[in-house]
Amino acid sequence: MTSDPHLNPSGNPHLATNLARWEELALLHPETASYDVAGFRAGRNALKPIEIRELTDVVGRSLLHLMCHFGLDTLSWARMGARVTGVDWSANAIAVARALAADTGIDARFVQSNVYDLPASLGGTFDIVFTSYGVLGWLPDLRQWAEVIATFLAPGGRFYIVEAHPIAWLFDDAPGATELRVAYPYFGDAGPVRTDSDGSYADRSAAVVNRTEYCWSHGLGEIVTALSDAGLHVQFLHEHRELPWQLLPFMTERGDGMWTLPGGQIAVPLAFSLLATR
Ligand SMILES: C[S@@+](CC[C@H](N)C(=O)[O-])C[C@H]1O[C@@H](n2cnc3c(N)ncnc32)[C@H](O)[C@@H]1O
Repeated sequence: MTSDPHLNPSGNPHLATNLARWEELALLHPETASYDVAGFRAGRNALKPIEIRELTDVVGRSLLHLMCHFGLDTLSWARMGARVTGVDWSANAIAVARALAADTGIDARFVQSNVYDLPASLGGTFDIVFTSYGVLGWLPDLRQWAEVIATFLAPGGRFYIVEAHPIAWLFDDAPGATELRVAYPYFGDAGPVRTDSDGSYADRSAAVVNRTEYCWSHGLGEIVTALSDAGLHVQFLHEHRELPWQLLPFMTERGDGMWTLPGGQIAVPLAFSLLATR
C-alpha cells in the first residue's frame, strides 16, 4: 500500500469510483471491435505508428508497461522482442492479460498493482518504462508517479510516454460537438472533473453500469517538471496532430487507425510523446 491514502482507492472515493469502472471496462473492451482481439490473436501488432517509430531498440530489453489495461500493447512489445512486465490496478484486466498471454504463447509477466504502490509489490529495474494513451488523467499526483518511474529505471534506462496532449483534453467532447470549444480546465489544480458517460471510448453504445469517472488535468509543464524533478533527462518532446481514437466527435479517421481534426479546424496538438533517460 502507498503511504498516501489520497492515492489509493481505499482512501479516495474518486479513485474507488474509477477502479470500479475500470474493472467493468476490462471485461467489456476485449469484446469490442476497436480492440480487435481476434486480429491480435492472428498476429496483429496493437501498437500505434508513433510509438513503433519512436521507441526503437527493444529487442532483448526488459520493458515495464505501466497501466497496461488488458495487455495488448504489452504483448505486442513482447512480440517485437522485449522482455515484458505489465502493471494495472484492475484484477480483471490482469486476469484477461494473463489468459491472452497463455493462449497466444507469448512470454509475459503481469502484476496487479496501483502504480503508486508498485515499489512495494515489484522489485528490480528495467531498461525501458513505457506508458501510453489515456493514462495521466487517472492520476491525482504526477510527482509521485514520476518517482515510481525513476525507481524502476536502470541507470541509462529509457522512459517513453505517448499520450493525448493536455491541449486536446480541453475541448467539448459531447456527442453533438462540431468544433473546438474549450470546456475543461488545463491546469492540474482544478481538482477532479466528473463525467458520466454511456459506453466507453472503445464502444460508445455499450450498456455500462459504472458510468461515472473522475479525471485530473495535468498541463505539459507539470508533466515535464515532475519527470525532471525525479531525476530524468528529457531527450525529446514531440507534439502530434493525430490520436489513435476519436477523442472529439468531429475528428476523422486518417486510414491508418489514427484520428485527426478535419480540414478547416485550427490545428492544435492532439498527442505528445516524450523520451527521457536516467
Ligand atoms: C485507458 S487505459 C490504458 C489504455 C491502453 N493504452 C490501451 O489502449 O490498452 C487506462 C488503464 O489505467 C489503469 N489505471 C488507472 N489508474 C491506475 C492506477 N492508479 N494504477 C494502475 N493502473 C491504473 C486502468 O485500470 C486502465 O486499464
